[in-house]
Amino acid sequence: MKIAVTGTSCTGKTVVSKKIAEILDYRYIDIGEFAEEHNAILEEDVERKTKIVDEKKLKKLLKNIENAVIDGHYSELLSPDTVFVLRCPPQILKERLSKKFHPEKVKENLLAEILDSCLISAAKHNDNTIVFEIENNSVDKTAKTILMLIKNKKVEESIAFKPTRKYLNDESLDLL
Ligand SMILES: Nc1ncnc2c1ncn2[C@@H]1O[C@H](COP(=O)(O)OP(=O)(O)OP(=O)(O)O)[C@@H](O)[C@H]1O
Ligand SMILES: [Mg+2]
Repeated sequence: MKIAVTGTSCTGKTVVSKKIAEILDYRYIDIGEFAEEHNAILEEDVERKTKIVDEKKLKKLLKNIENAVIDGHYSELLSPDTVFVLRCPPQILKERLSKKFHPEKVKENLLAEILDSCLISAAKHNDNTIVFEIENNSVDKTAKTILMLIKNKKVEESIAFKPTRKYLNDESLDLL
């Protein structure tokens, strides 16, 4: 099974993905590193420090891998069996982003989180009944929830049955 873990930067994709990969004894794949190792980078936006990956090539390479947790924004594009979109309340996310990026990039990521960008991308590229949104308030709890959802396939918990836009309010927008 291929599990995609996506979300805005600093929502906790890497810590959570590594944890569930270890518990399930699945291969952990950092999509950016994997793309680089396999020459699957199409372009690099140096200014924005982002890389455009070769989706087609990555999909082909991943076909040969059976069980994996795929960590990264874009993992939702790679025909996963299940997608988890990690979310973080903007007030907390701003603090985490500020430790890692310059103010402009903090704003860009914060706005993406407020506007559900990763969630919308996951919904657009997958059957919505395999997409789950999890507010990652605790790494342990998030890992537990992911394991439970994989085991029990609770479609009623998927985004197909849940409203979104929970962070779009004046309080969040004042952080920008
Ligand atoms: N639930 C949580 N509670 C507290 N801190 C957390 C939680 N999840 C992640 N963190 C912390 O937030 C920071 C960002 O986490 P992480 O690197 O996993 O994010 P990411 O989504 O992989 O970011 P990027 O897309 O930039 O790689 C780390 O310092 C991590 O320890
Ligand atoms: Mg990461």
